[in-house]
Amino acid sequence: MTTFVRYVKTQAMAKTVLVSGGAGYIGSHVTVELISAGYEVVVADNMSNCDMTCFEGVKKITGRNDIPFYQIDCCDYAAVTRLFDENRIDAVIHFAAFKAVGESVAEPIMYYRNNLVSFLNILEAAKTHGGCNVLFSSSATVYGEAEVLPVTEQTPRLPATSPYGNTKQMCEDILRDVVLATATSEGPVKGIALRYFNPIGAHPSALIGELPRGVPNNLVPFITQTAIGKRECLSIFGNDYDTEDGTCLRDYIDIVDLAKAHVAAVSRMVDGRMKEGYEIFNVGTGRPVSVYELVTAFEKVNGLKLNYKFAPRRPGDVVAIWADTRLANDELGWKAERSVEDTLASAWAWERHLAGK
Ligand code: UFG
Repeated sequence: MTTFVRYVKTQAMAKTVLVSGGAGYIGSHVTVELISAGYEVVVADNMSNCDMTCFEGVKKITGRNDIPFYQIDCCDYAAVTRLFDENRIDAVIHFAAFKAVGESVAEPIMYYRNNLVSFLNILEAAKTHGGCNVLFSSSATVYGEAEVLPVTEQTPRLPATSPYGNTKQMCEDILRDVVLATATSEGPVKGIALRYFNPIGAHPSALIGELPRGVPNNLVPFITQTAIGKRECLSIFGNDYDTEDGTCLRDYIDIVDLAKAHVAAVSRMVDGRMKEGYEIFNVGTGRPVSVYELVTAFEKVNGLKLNYKFAPRRPGDVVAIWADTRLANDELGWKAERSVEDTLASAWAWERHLAGK
């Protein structure tokens, strides 16, 4: 009885969002935006791929020292259940997953176990605690090398080329199936999958940003680490593609814009504005930018010369992908706003902050 009373919320009380993987790159930016939009946030993270830098930054930006933090592994069902027992969770945003494509090819069991079990545990806990809204962090990787660009949410998914990509597809399907199975129950699970294009940049405060461990796989951290002198030279993988300047085309989405898309999607779920129990949205800018354009924009906006060279193509890269964003624009009332120049300036400010410069 005592437990029940603790959970009774009035309409006026802020909704609570569990952010799994909330101490990481995307999770920390989303936590900031949720709090500034008036949500309460509970963060869960096993710290396997980050330290407390970003969580400390979140506290500074929001002025909130009281954000509940659970250092748990979402693969531990008892720990996830305890978290749900102790908090009335209105929505979950699930980021807690491994994300390195190459590593997933080398360690498929580890990837499937971690990425699937953690999500299944979140869903099971959501289901057994009276239903919940679940936002899954998916990826444009599900489209593979699409024949028609830009891709809409209706563009067929292609078979994944890595276990990592496969876990994204599988988790989307698991969410869809759980939504369907619980639709008529007393505690339905509702779901949104956001398919991110290429998230880059950092918070304007330079207090949170991307913190790759070891040698970065992704382009922008490699650029900023080269510019600061941590890496000798950036390799641009492939300049013989069938594009204007021969380098690959991507849709680089600012991390704060991306975080705001999560707030829009969570609001749609908790305010009961979903049109279907399970929905999918592309989260990108709709603007293709080549690798070479990005590198030269970085140099120009930050007033520096980058040491780079052209190198052979990277196996597994798609030539070009960018988003049709109309569905997110119309249904979520969300649009990417920050220019690629401002985003690249923020990425550089973050790298300098890390270096104490
Ligand atoms: N690139 C370089 N040099 C580098 C790193 C990247 O030229 O040092 C190029 C890549 O070849 C690619 C572009 O920069 O053309 C973007 O590469 P990223 O690694 O930054 O991003 P991807 O488009 O490969 O990655 C995206 C998502 C990942 C997801 C992956 C799946 O960001 O989360 O698609 O293919 F896993």
